[in-house]
Amino acid sequence: MTSGHGHRIVVVKGDGIGPELVDAALLVLGAAQEALGFRLEIDLREGGAGYYEKSGASLAPETFEAIKAADAALKGPVGLPGVRLPDGTEAGLLGGVLRIGLDAYANLRPVRLLPGVEAPLKAKAGEIDYVIVRENTEGLYLSRGKGIGTSEAMADTLLVTRKGVARIARYAFELARRRNRARQVTCVDKANVLASLAFFRRVFDEIGEAYPDVRREHLYADAAAQALVLEPQRFDVLVMENFLGDILSDLGGATVGGIGLCPSGNIGDRHAYFEPIHGSAPDIAGQDKANPISQILSAALMLEHLGERAAAELIRRAVDAALAQRKLVLGRHGQPEGGTRRAAAILAAAVRELAPR
Ligand code: NAD
Ligand code: IPM
Ligand code: MN
Repeated sequence: MTSGHGHRIVVVKGDGIGPELVDAALLVLGAAQEALGFRLEIDLREGGAGYYEKSGASLAPETFEAIKAADAALKGPVGLPGVRLPDGTEAGLLGGVLRIGLDAYANLRPVRLLPGVEAPLKAKAGEIDYVIVRENTEGLYLSRGKGIGTSEAMADTLLVTRKGVARIARYAFELARRRNRARQVTCVDKANVLASLAFFRRVFDEIGEAYPDVRREHLYADAAAQALVLEPQRFDVLVMENFLGDILSDLGGATVGGIGLCPSGNIGDRHAYFEPIHGSAPDIAGQDKANPISQILSAALMLEHLGERAAAELIRRAVDAALAQRKLVLGRHGQPEGGTRRAAAILAAAVRELAPR
């Protein structure tokens, strides 16, 4: 079965566990390509903290241009906690460069409890299935690199704009329609305390008027942190400011067996790139311990974005089947028994097994 259509993909392996994870994802993508006959033209580039140490920049301008020109990018986690700027923040990260540079304003972070995964909550596979839509280009992180102060005080600014909130709210409502589950969007904010987030809520409500078929609710972020642990089953789509989305998506990841299971997409109107929600995990890097599912499901999100729905579905079903049949067993912190490479081989085999003949 060859349809002959191809997609140009930039791949950045990143730091720490990044290369192990991306190699695992490439193995599974290779199996899916063979099974379904589509083509990915891979353009491998460097970026991140290791690259910063060599070159003085976290990403070469040509790499940024290549990502802009590509159909999508797949990125491993980046960052080495020892590689820092004079203001104390990390030097080797790419979020500022790529999310703002590509105007990838919607950070899609699905949280799903997969079969066979032991979650710290009383929930069955499929019962936890929501998406955090994290605003990705403004909010508190717009202050990245722009903190001001003296030796005695420092300030970062949380700025949100009508345009920024309106488009992320619209994205969330449209997603709730597309998912067609509870058709519900929860706006998570601190409208009780911060004027910026009261504004976020107001604009969310204004946009919501155009979606009478989607239920709207509000939750303060502190209460949301509790609800995401005590009753995650009740969520469908949640939309929130950048910093809140960062924190609450890792919390959500913990409830479904660990952030090593959690993919994400950074999606704009013209460009998109896909990566795990977690970081470079220096504590386990280079030890063949990391869970590659986050990276593999990020690749599946990328395929869906590229219009390769069957391939995305095939990879997701392969992950579910391998876990459900306990061919792949996750241990402490979601680390796969037998290691990263073995997990990748099992998942690639599951793709081949489930492929249409
Ligand atoms: P982290 O997300 O790298 O790790 C937190 C914990 O989760 C660690 O115990 C780690 O071992 C575990 N973990 C993460 N991914 C895992 C996986 N796939 N399988 C099993 N366990 C996994 O967070 P951190 O240690 O705070 O940050 C490390 C570096 O990553 C820092 O430089 C940070 O700035 C960077 N970072 C980068 C990104 C990104 O590239 N998108 C995201 C978050 C953090
Ligand atoms: C994430 C990360 C990044 C962010 C950091 C490492 C820059 O935590 O993607 O969740 O939130 O911007
Ligand atoms: Mn984060």
